[in-house]
Amino acid sequence: MKRNVMVGQSGGPTAAINASLAGIYITAKECGAKTVYGMLNGIQGLLEGRYIDLSEHVKDDLDAELLKRTPASFLGSCRYKLPAAEGNEEVYEKVFATLKELDIEVFIYIGGNDSMDTINKLSKYGQSVGSEIRFIGCPKTVDNDLALTDHTPGYGSAAKYIAISMKELIRDSFTIDFKQGMCTIVEIMGRDAGWLTGAAALSKDEDCDGPDLIYLPEVPFDIESFREKVKVLLAKKVSVVVAVSEGIHTADGTYVCELGNSVDFVDAFGHKQLSGTASYLAGYIANEFGCKTRAIEFSTLQRAGSHIASLTDTNEGYAAGRAAILAADEGKTGLMVVFERLSKHPYVCGTGLRDVDKIANDERVVPREWINEDGDYVTDEFLSYAKPLIRGELVPIMVNGLPKHLNVPDGLRERK
Ligand code: F6P
Repeated sequence: MKRNVMVGQSGGPTAAINASLAGIYITAKECGAKTVYGMLNGIQGLLEGRYIDLSEHVKDDLDAELLKRTPASFLGSCRYKLPAAEGNEEVYEKVFATLKELDIEVFIYIGGNDSMDTINKLSKYGQSVGSEIRFIGCPKTVDNDLALTDHTPGYGSAAKYIAISMKELIRDSFTIDFKQGMCTIVEIMGRDAGWLTGAAALSKDEDCDGPDLIYLPEVPFDIESFREKVKVLLAKKVSVVVAVSEGIHTADGTYVCELGNSVDFVDAFGHKQLSGTASYLAGYIANEFGCKTRAIEFSTLQRAGSHIASLTDTNEGYAAGRAAILAADEGKTGLMVVFERLSKHPYVCGTGLRDVDKIANDERVVPREWINEDGDYVTDEFLSYAKPLIRGELVPIMVNGLPKHLNVPDGLRERK
């Protein structure tokens, strides 16, 4: 690599996304890149001419270690859908003019399925105009729903946060034996894929019963059957804990959160913001049985929880960034880094590369056979799959009792 690299982050943040950025930056430098630029707020920021030189922020090894431990997307993010090239040539001309001006040789985008759509479109356009820039996708998403990869960086850390928090709140929930019982509903992210919600079962061990019921979006939600199950459990247990995906929906496709106070915010990819499922179901159970209820939304905390990030996950995030640069250095383009599980016991995972065209806009959900017949728990196979991904801790660098993070770059806090 002789010239410069441009890197961006896009979509929802994860606790491992900056480990990938560190892997990209350090490996690009090792490969001889002169400058590694970071676009601020992804492709949207690049179109506005907003980018930074990463060497001004990652000045030494300590900064690189802090970057790995910094939550959210260090470069800021966007949910911007690049329009089709046909009829929108001016958008692409603008991107490529900026890349030419900055002497960019390699373009890496760290993101999920929607971000891979951006890499796909840019690499295709680049080929059509004879550009030599290599475009590589670096996977990330807490949702774990990217196709053709065993899993995605970001999932392991969010799953770990969920499993730990479930253990803690389950313990807390049975300290008082309320007259009509207590029912806690915990809402977990993941939109249309239940990988994160299933991770609630990882809390089950000899010192924790785990949640009583787990509802994934892969199986239509039946409120009557849910009611009956909670009724039976309330009759025998001090506390009933239910994990639900934010995306559970009834057989006709209505999201459960839409049954309550619906939130109408829709992003550029047409995704509705989903929230309110736990609060709707907790209200429903309180009305039905007069018991004490609590609605808990892990919300942003589950993907921002870098103080308890999985070491396996952050190491793999770094490895994904490194593999993206090495692929580009070998002249490859139009690909995304994937993870391949080489051995289950012991867990061994390696990276590979797959055509981004086959990944963009696709979604990998939890296989039906990894969910029990009743559709209210995950199977042992699911647990064997997820367990290795949460192993180990990336210990925070603590200062004054708090984890230290790399400072936010200028230009991210102010509204444009
Ligand atoms: O795609 C990642 C994700 O965290 C989803 O699980 C969730 O539905 C969505 O992002 C939330 O996005 P936002 O924080 O932009 O509302």
